[in-house]
Amino acid sequence: MKKTKVNKIRINLDTDNYFEKILQKNVTRRSALKGSFSALATICFGSNLLLLTSSGSSTNKKLNLNFDTVKKNIKDDITLANGYNYQVLLRTGDPIKTKTNEYKNDGTDRVESFVNRAGDHHDGMHFFGLNSNNQWDPNVSDRGLLCINHESITAEFLHVSGQSILGGKRTSEKEVLKEMLMHGVSIIEIKKNNSGFFVEKNSLFNKRITTLTKIQMSGPAAKSKNLITLFSPDGTHTRGTLGNCANGHTPWGTYLTCEENWAKYFYRPESEDALRNNREMKAFKRYNLITSGKNLWATVKDTTLEKIYSRWNALKIGISKDGSDDFRNCPNTFGWVVEIDPFNPQAPIKKRTALGRFAHEGAWPGKVTPGEPLVWYMGCDATHEYIYKFVSSHSWNPDDNKGGISSGDKYLDDGKLYVARFNDNGTGEWLELEFGKNDISKNSKPYEFINQSDVLIHARLAADFVGATKMDRPEWGAVNPINGDVYMSLTCNPSRKIEEVDSSNPRFYNSPKKGNDQKGNTNGHIIRWAENKGKGFSTKFEWDIFLFGSREDADKKNVNISDLSSANDFSRPDGLWFSNNGLLWIQTDDHAYTDVSNCMLLAAIPGKVGDGNSISIINQNNKNKNKIKTFIGERIGEEKLKRFLVGPKGCEITGLAETPDGKTLFVNIQHPGENTNGSNFTILNSETFDSNWPDGKGSRPRSATIVISRNNEGTVGSDFI
Ligand code: FEO
Ligand code: CA
Ligand code: CA
Repeated sequence: MKKTKVNKIRINLDTDNYFEKILQKNVTRRSALKGSFSALATICFGSNLLLLTSSGSSTNKKLNLNFDTVKKNIKDDITLANGYNYQVLLRTGDPIKTKTNEYKNDGTDRVESFVNRAGDHHDGMHFFGLNSNNQWDPNVSDRGLLCINHESITAEFLHVSGQSILGGKRTSEKEVLKEMLMHGVSIIEIKKNNSGFFVEKNSLFNKRITTLTKIQMSGPAAKSKNLITLFSPDGTHTRGTLGNCANGHTPWGTYLTCEENWAKYFYRPESEDALRNNREMKAFKRYNLITSGKNLWATVKDTTLEKIYSRWNALKIGISKDGSDDFRNCPNTFGWVVEIDPFNPQAPIKKRTALGRFAHEGAWPGKVTPGEPLVWYMGCDATHEYIYKFVSSHSWNPDDNKGGISSGDKYLDDGKLYVARFNDNGTGEWLELEFGKNDISKNSKPYEFINQSDVLIHARLAADFVGATKMDRPEWGAVNPINGDVYMSLTCNPSRKIEEVDSSNPRFYNSPKKGNDQKGNTNGHIIRWAENKGKGFSTKFEWDIFLFGSREDADKKNVNISDLSSANDFSRPDGLWFSNNGLLWIQTDDHAYTDVSNCMLLAAIPGKVGDGNSISIINQNNKNKNKIKTFIGERIGEEKLKRFLVGPKGCEITGLAETPDGKTLFVNIQHPGENTNGSNFTILNSETFDSNWPDGKGSRPRSATIVISRNNEGTVGSDFI
């Protein structure tokens, strides 16, 4: 067991001896899965395979939402559809091991204990069934490993009285270390008994992965000179994962956590620009690496051997040519899709560079067909950014379902990265980002690429160069297990100008909130596409827009085009998830309609790409007017789109996972109380907390995973009738 001295704080930076314990218990994973996988000729997968086959036998029946819609509201509580109940499973700071004390939630918990506590800002997650042999079993629903991302923190709620800062520098090492430990991923074993699910704190699988965990750089960009740091002079490793937003999973039962808002954590102010060359500056601008460093982690006094704080300082301060004596290249080791094997805590964790570097929201698997390549769909979450997909070079061999990280080496380190262009006639193309193709070369302008690892590290620049379509902030994606259609939330784009609308991002409008203008694409939309011939590896597709977010009273011709009513209107779609029976869940992360309702979870029964019609939208502002043609799916109405849950104040609803039997839904309530006034709550006046969820009056709000089930123990959300 390796301990790293962090001043007087001693924490375990690497994995501890529970690996040996696990090995003694002979937990060899994945031995019995081969048969069940290869029996299926073609499968799509959300979380489960059994139900998928059974839903196939239900094709003569009609899927029906089995609840009444929930009214919009701004209560500081969870409002759930009648006939359903929820329990709180894991809150910020909750212990994940028996030896760790309950969380006091007042800022006084010992920093060392955070190695074994849930992180903050719960986000994307996935449920992996766990059988009695301690192996992954995609058909088990009453016991599993839940992998949960912790995207960010509300720093003020974590300390006694806010962050200690003097002269622009953090003065408390313990506070900074605690914040670093509250990011990353939690892996917890959960079990169901008569009272519902609980965390098995004795489990040897329970583990935190944080900004301190050693991680391997894998795939084509590994060992490139752009990844050389003082921590890893050969460019093979980095420390930590960060901005873990949405997620994904693989047909071999591993978890993918995706790094979204990582850039702003680094210290690289404009004053350093003169030391950097032209290409570097173009890359910094494109990745927003002109930053004073969120939370100022780089500013705390660093006496650690491994420079765990200084590595957030991306200045060129060393004398080496290659960056092996500082952390100038450290930002290049973030912005990736990271693969974790939750069933084998001993396995290396790997950043899969073949999937490109950007503000990764998630990586959602497409249809899985033996003998065909595997596909993951991805979005870069920022305004005017792109939709990508990765197609493996190797065709899927179901025998690899038990391979763990070594299957990842085969399928995720070798493949093609594409970016999407949405044409204005309802078709689209996937443009390959490969050095030497599509004119990506040393002569590309404005950024000259050197080789393929340069293309992957600067995937945004390559996507610019090939002429991909700039979207209205791609958030989550989901693949319909019934027909393979791919859905992606375009959450909003307040900076979309009226002159910039295009067929796939067609709206510019004003949606005032409390009398204040909110222009651009304020409420977002959900786009979807069908790959040519249903093949994920195809380079052509057809698309339409499934739903347009809107206030119910907005103009139905040009804004509320999906004809939303009070029963189902929403703003800023974010999380998406398909149940195995084809039910689509939609979560919101909204600021635009929060005068009327807190963020929410809706359920929809979608049709398919092309089931609607083409329409013309008139966009208008004071000076300009334009008309744009787009394609919209069939209006599904109140029977097929209902509100299932409304969250507490100031939260975002995110992270959706489901047990294979469809009877339990896991949902994350992220950052309740977000609008608390900082200058007040630093003096601990609990009356000023904007939310006291989930612990009640006077308490600091916390993010949490909740577990939703139906009172009659039926499937959540929908039934076949
Ligand atoms: Fe982390 Fe894109 O929401
Ligand atoms: Ca999100
Ligand atoms: Ca979001």
